[in-house]
Amino acid sequence: MTTSRTFTMIKPDAYAAGHSGAIIQIIEANGFKISAMKLSQLTGSRAGQFYDVHKSRPFYNELVAYMSEGPIVAMILEKENAVEDFRKLIGATNPSEAAEGTIRKLFATSISANAIHGSDSDENAALESAFFFSQLEQF
Ligand code: CMP
Repeated sequence: MTTSRTFTMIKPDAYAAGHSGAIIQIIEANGFKISAMKLSQLTGSRAGQFYDVHKSRPFYNELVAYMSEGPIVAMILEKENAVEDFRKLIGATNPSEAAEGTIRKLFATSISANAIHGSDSDENAALESAFFFSQLEQF
């Protein structure tokens, strides 16, 4: 299998609670290599753009407000089978349904403040990576 990439964000709740270091340690211990990393804060408008796919959902406004309330840590990660393996490592969207040992089980506090994002496909991983990192910064 060849190396592939995924995109992740440590969300504002986990950053504010001081969990970034612990989360990064878990990510690296599970074989993911960090190929880009940036501390950033989304404006409401940028958060709205990032979650445009959820525009018609009832939780969209809450999601945009939450994702722009404080700093996030954006990262591009490399590993064989990166997208699928990372989704397993972070666990289910709702932390009450997340498996033991997953990042969301350990650090998420609710379905909206769920600590971390992970791309759901190779295509979205590329789009989301480009949203935060220019080509120059990636290589
Ligand atoms: P994620 O799967 O990373 O991307 C979409 C986000 O929307 C999800 O994490 C949650 O933060 C949020 N979300 C999904 N479902 C709900 C919900 N029912 N109520 C509030 N927020 C949600």
